[in-house]
Amino acid sequence: MIVPPQTIAVLHPGKMGAALARLLVAPGHRLLCCVEGRSDATRQRAQDIGLIPVPMRQLADEADIAVSIVDPAAAHHVAVDLVAAGFRGLLMETNAIRPRVLHSIADLIHTAGGQVVDASIMGPPPAQNLSQPTRLYLSGPAIGIDAITTVFAAAPELLITTLGEDIGQASALKLAHSTVHKAGRALALLGHALAEQHDLSAALATEMSRWPHPASDPEQFPSVAGRSWRWGDELREAAEELHDAGLPSELAIHAAAIFDLLVDFKNASPSQNKIFDVLNNRPTTAP
Ligand SMILES: NC(=O)c1ccc[n+]([C@@H]2O[C@H](COP(=O)([O-])OP(=O)(O)OC[C@H]3O[C@@H](n4cnc5c(N)ncnc54)[C@H](OP(=O)(O)O)[C@@H]3O)[C@@H](O)[C@H]2O)c1
Repeated sequence: MIVPPQTIAVLHPGKMGAALARLLVAPGHRLLCCVEGRSDATRQRAQDIGLIPVPMRQLADEADIAVSIVDPAAAHHVAVDLVAAGFRGLLMETNAIRPRVLHSIADLIHTAGGQVVDASIMGPPPAQNLSQPTRLYLSGPAIGIDAITTVFAAAPELLITTLGEDIGQASALKLAHSTVHKAGRALALLGHALAEQHDLSAALATEMSRWPHPASDPEQFPSVAGRSWRWGDELREAAEELHDAGLPSELAIHAAAIFDLLVDFKNASPSQNKIFDVLNNRPTTAP
């Protein structure tokens, strides 16, 4: 497919932004950045890839597409700067932010006459030597999604999935993923710290490798709910052990509280909807 070259700005070329920019070099896109106020590392990455450094006003004026990929606390401020500089193109908002924040950014961009595609990215920065592609999830109006999928079309390192037409969906997926993945990493750290006090970290790793990730198989949830009545107590035991071992115990206590919510399903096999109703504190619905 022949893709007409676009002018694309990357705000900012951190490790992920630079890796995304690298995918856009070969198709011949004109790549801009604005490194005013940025660190030497960001400036160096921009130079290595061949991004053209320009003042923010010029970037806002010339970019057809701007990719925002910073840390979550900076996302709103990047959009404000873009709009203040006169940007009226398509913003790919790729930050790990709440849908509510995404909507407030979209309001800013739309009011200024631009468009927004909500995006979230999972996996390490895309590169050819990875065992699987980095995943880019998109949601928003079809015209914007077409533009983004077109510019990245020549990059097999990136697997693009369109979620739907609502901006906010891609952001929600990212935070749901963070809940499982990052909180899961915190639990893994804790479990291994406890196991290691008994020289058992390797044994724990071997045992855990036998289990598929619980979030990858929601069909297990009814069985989980049926056993939740005793898992709260089990986790409180673990919390006390963590505490006595000098480790943080709050995560285990809070996880126990999740299972406590499901005690009424003792030995039952409720539907996922019923389980989610309880977790959402909604009246349970049939089935
Ligand atoms: N790296 C990954 O594996 C990965 C995976 C999935 C998703 N992500 C997403 O990518 C985002 C960026 O990750 P990264 O690894 O690229 O981080 P990074 O290497 O630290 O890059 C962050 C970039 O944002 C800039 N920045 C930081 N604070 C800013 C501010 N207040 N205003 C403007 N620019 C600011 C940084 O500039 P300075 O250098 O000047 O600070 C840098 O260019 C993450 O928040 C995450 O949502 C990353």
